[in-house]
Amino acid sequence: MSNRISRNFRNIFLVLVAICSNICILAPAYSQSDIGIEFKDKGQIVKTLTLSDLVTAVPAASLKVFEIHEKKDHIYRAYPARALFDKTFGNEWKKAEEIVFISMDGYQASIPVTKFLSHDAYFAFAHDDSSPFTMTNILQNNEAVQLGPLYLIWDNMQSKVLLEDGASDMPYQVKSIELATFATRFPNLSPPAKASAEVQHGFFHFRKHCMACHTINGEGGGKAPELNYPTSVVEYIKPEYLTRWIENPSSIRHNSLMPGLAQEIPDRTKVTNEIIAYLKAMSTTKRSPKRQDID
Ligand code: HEC
Repeated sequence: MSNRISRNFRNIFLVLVAICSNICILAPAYSQSDIGIEFKDKGQIVKTLTLSDLVTAVPAASLKVFEIHEKKDHIYRAYPARALFDKTFGNEWKKAEEIVFISMDGYQASIPVTKFLSHDAYFAFAHDDSSPFTMTNILQNNEAVQLGPLYLIWDNMQSKVLLEDGASDMPYQVKSIELATFATRFPNLSPPAKASAEVQHGFFHFRKHCMACHTINGEGGGKAPELNYPTSVVEYIKPEYLTRWIENPSSIRHNSLMPGLAQEIPDRTKVTNEIIAYLKAMSTTKRSPKRQDID
C-alpha cells in the first residue's frame, strides 16, 4: 500500500517536473503550450492536443540527429511519431496513404505512411539544452525560424536513405496532422492519366521536394508562389533559367528564400529534368484554384 502511494507521488512529481520544464523551455520564445495541435482524418478533426497535453500522453526522449537544416549533429527532446499516431488515431493510421503536415508558415508536407512504418520519426518540442526552440535555417538564406509547436525529425544518423532525402520531409511549426489519400486531398496536382513515365517520376519528385511550399492549380503549400495557374513557369521562364531556379535559386535572385534542390539527392540533374517534364505536363492541365477549398 505505502509502496503504491509513494509510486503515485513519484508519478505526480514527474508529471509536474515535465510540465514545468516544458513551460520554462518555451517561455523565452513565445508560449506555445496552449496552441491546439489538430489531428484530422479525411478532413474531420479527431483530436486537438496542446503541448501540455502531450507531456502526459506520450513519453519523451532525447534524440541525436544530423540536423539537415544546419548541416551538423544536434540533440532534441522529442516524442516518437508512431506512439503519438497510435495515441491519437488508433491503429487506423497505418492504413492511410499519406500524412499531411500543415505548418503555421504555410508549409504543407505530404509524406507517405510507408515512410513512417520503415523509419523512426519523432516530433521535437525542445532543444535538449533548453535554449529557445528556434533555428538558423542555412537552406533558406539563414532565416531565423521558430520550430514549435512541433518539428518533425528523423532518426537519420545511421540511414543513408534518410540523409539523401534532404530537408523536405522535416516540417517545423507543425499545427495540424491529417491522414489523407493523395488523389482525394490534392485532385488537381496529378498529371494527365496518359502522361509518360518521365512525367510520373517528375510528379513523384515534385511531391517530395516542391509542393510543401508551392501550389499547382491552387493545391499544395502556401509559402511560395503558384507555379501553374494562370500562366505556368514553363511559359514565362526560359528553360535554362528554370533549371537554375530549381538547382541554385540564389544564382537568380539575391537573398532568395527558396532552398535549391538538395545536393544529397542521387541523380540530381535527372530529377530536375523530370520535375520540369511534370511542370510542362501540368501547363496543359490548368484548373482554376478558385474551385478548390484551400486550407
Ligand atoms: C522551402 C520552400 C520552397 C521549396 C521547397 C521550393 N521553393 Fe520554389 N520558391 C520558394 C520561394 C519563397 C520562392 C519565391 C522567390 C524567392 O523567395 O526567391 C520560390 C520561387 C520559385 C520559382 C520562381 C517563380 C517566379 O515566378 O518567380 C520557381 C520556378 C520555383 N520556385 C520552383 C520550385 C521547384 C520546381 C521546387 C522543387 C524542386 C521548389 N521551387 C521548391 C520556396 C520554395
